[in-house]
Amino acid sequence: MSGSEAVYGAPPSALARSGPGAVQVSPLMPGASAIEDLADHSLDRMVIYAPPGTVERRYALAHGLRSVKVGGELIAMAPKDKGGLRLRGEIEAFGCAAGDTARRHHRIVATRAPTNPVGVQEAIAAGGPQLAPRLGLWSQPGVFSWDRLDPGTGLLLETLTPMAGKGADLGCGVGLIGRELLKSAEVTSLLLIDIDARAVAAARRNIEDPRSRFEHGDVRRHAEADLDFVVMNPPFHDAGHEDRALGQAFIAAAATRLKSGGVCLMVANVGLPYETVLQACFSKVTLVTQAHGYKVHEARR
Ligand SMILES: C[S@@+](CC[C@H](N)C(=O)[O-])C[C@H]1O[C@@H](n2cnc3c(N)ncnc32)[C@H](O)[C@@H]1O
Repeated sequence: MSGSEAVYGAPPSALARSGPGAVQVSPLMPGASAIEDLADHSLDRMVIYAPPGTVERRYALAHGLRSVKVGGELIAMAPKDKGGLRLRGEIEAFGCAAGDTARRHHRIVATRAPTNPVGVQEAIAAGGPQLAPRLGLWSQPGVFSWDRLDPGTGLLLETLTPMAGKGADLGCGVGLIGRELLKSAEVTSLLLIDIDARAVAAARRNIEDPRSRFEHGDVRRHAEADLDFVVMNPPFHDAGHEDRALGQAFIAAAATRLKSGGVCLMVANVGLPYETVLQACFSKVTLVTQAHGYKVHEARR
């Protein structure tokens, strides 16, 4: 790993600037380096736009303190209501002297890496890849519904009938849907794609099947085509904010990648208005089931 500065996420430039050569290490940015690969005490400076989950945030901060040189600068920030108010205390708990400022609904905490930070390895172990007992699968804090079955995913799995041919699991998470799809011997290949590198790494560990291919990428930019089927539980949040456009983009992406007659099975929260875009993109749309606040649609190209 070269370069002496790293950045995690996309800190607003009005809050903290990272240098043009800063190495991006967010797992949510395809093409980024892995924060785990930063060498110990290799950086002069790191800026972290801290993620909202406590365990996930402490994991990123611990990697920051591990990889910044002793006396090097660590700047972390988060929106006040998404961990920002706890940030200073969390950094002080690592044995750092920290000061914070409030700006634009964020808390910004600056510190210098101490000689012997406290609890760094523990935070890295707590936030790293691990077997989630309730799922019985590899997962990692920060990944969607990382340690329990999401009810929407559960409804989709109950509804799933065996698929055939070439397909994709768009926004695959840790691979729950993909594992189920691959139980059908008629499936010839399955692309599992997610924007979260941690999810893709977990899915790789959870699925050992020569018919599967994994990609850390953005569904909106992926060019796979001629698919027989797509199954998905599309995201409705982008960077922590509800974003219906993202789910609609997933529907459009599924439609353009399916061959004529191909099928898309998707689950969504009942409150999300996806019917119009489904009708616009597909020739036949059927509501398969609705329960527990979720709905499953089958859309045929
Ligand atoms: C609602 S979760 C579903 C995860 C998994 N399929 C399940 O059902 O447990 C949506 C997934 O889409 C991923 N995602 C969000 N935006 C994406 C994008 N633009 N491209 C690819 N994946 C994305 C998220 O990281 C998340 O894993």
